Amino acid sequence: MAKIAMLGSGFIGRFYADSLQGQRSRDKIVSIYSRREESAKKFAEDYKVPHFTTAMLESIQHPDVEVVCISLPNHLHEAAVLACCDAKKAVICTKPLGRNAEEAKRMLEAVEKAGIFHGYLEDLVYTPKFIKAWESVRAGALGKILWAKSRETHPGPHSDWFWDIEQAGGGCILDLGCHCVEIGRTFIGKDIKPVEVMCWADTQVKPIDAEDHAIGLVKYENGAIGQFEVSWTFRGGLDLRDEVMGSEGTIWLNSFLRTGFDMFTSGKGADYVAEKAESNAGWLFPVGDELNELGYNHMFTDMFNAMENDQLPRETFYDGYVVNAILDAAYKSAKSKLWEPVKLEIWRGKEGVEKLSSRTDYDDQYYLIKEEMTHYGSKKLILKDKKTGQVVEKVLSE
Ligand SMILES: NC(=O)c1ccc[n+]([C@@H]2O[C@H](COP(=O)([O-])OP(=O)(O)OC[C@H]3O[C@@H](n4cnc5c(N)ncnc54)[C@H](O)[C@@H]3O)[C@@H](O)[C@H]2O)c1
Repeated sequence: MAKIAMLGSGFIGRFYADSLQGQRSRDKIVSIYSRREESAKKFAEDYKVPHFTTAMLESIQHPDVEVVCISLPNHLHEAAVLACCDAKKAVICTKPLGRNAEEAKRMLEAVEKAGIFHGYLEDLVYTPKFIKAWESVRAGALGKILWAKSRETHPGPHSDWFWDIEQAGGGCILDLGCHCVEIGRTFIGKDIKPVEVMCWADTQVKPIDAEDHAIGLVKYENGAIGQFEVSWTFRGGLDLRDEVMGSEGTIWLNSFLRTGFDMFTSGKGADYVAEKAESNAGWLFPVGDELNELGYNHMFTDMFNAMENDQLPRETFYDGYVVNAILDAAYKSAKSKLWEPVKLEIWRGKEGVEKLSSRTDYDDQYYLIKEEMTHYGSKKLILKDKKTGQVVEKVLSE
């Protein structure tokens, strides 16, 4: 059983608590810190937590606490992590790890110096659909991964601090792009270096200083390309979709908005439908089990299994740092309108990886470009001469 201090009793703190203490979980929240006493108390009552406080350190240092779960606004992550290092308590932190790579690097170095367990709570690489898709990718079902796109768009976040660039550290690129970048990175290979980023960003709708809509490309050293599409201006709910293209196959994932559960209601008795749903009448797209579909259950299972077995979880502060470094380059590119290098002062993956090559030999003389079966019953091959470079067509059946 893991004994947990929850820092933050808001939106994600409650989702995490539902997952941590849901089903027949043996893990327990033993202390809750929240800024306001009434929120801390309410959370303690709702989740049967024996200790509540409005002093963050009191929660971290509580003698019963073994692991601290940071569910605080972005600008408070670093201070909370450093306090865990001082108290020598294991720490798991929500996304994004830092407001930028500089903060994330300080957090990574601090936990490693303190020698404490650390996990990065990137739930969307733990969804059941993602895990299955990733297993297929690792088994080679898609061949070489050439392009991995991830999209997260919704009508905007639920608390004031997100909309303040100082506290949040950015707009939708940081808030949602962190998920998309880690999804792309995982499909492409976390040991493959992200080298440069091209990004468009704008503030199209909301009266804020940060961006509310962005599209970016992340180029990897092996030539693979990651793509993120993020928005706080999308209408219609929470759109979570991934597409992966490989030399041998394709995967399309729709994780939230169209999961195969469609419902119509006149609105009578209507209530909560799903995260960021904009309507509770008419045709609706509910989600069967949000905690599971969003990956929280599998994420915490990995975190606590790793902690108990003295291993690293799949997502660590190092991953959070790499994600922040990629997003820093995206912000630079959105301003400069150029490809910007990803600055990774700490890199633990492969170096000098060659570009992907997927040439298929037809025979000694030719490469195979394409095999085609036409609608008029003719089967043909398009071939390229290896020496001369000439492209020829060979008709197998007329
Ligand atoms: N899918 C996900 O992984 C996911 C989803 C939502 C939010 N998050 C992350 O979780 C963190 C918290 O987001 P949230 O949606 O729970 O926010 P929230 O506003 O709903 O809750 C914030 C909590 O922090 C506490 N707090 C302490 N000091 C504060 C301060 N100075 N200002 C505001 N709140 C303060 C509040 O009391 C509250 O309990 C953020 O880093 C966010 O990016 C992750």
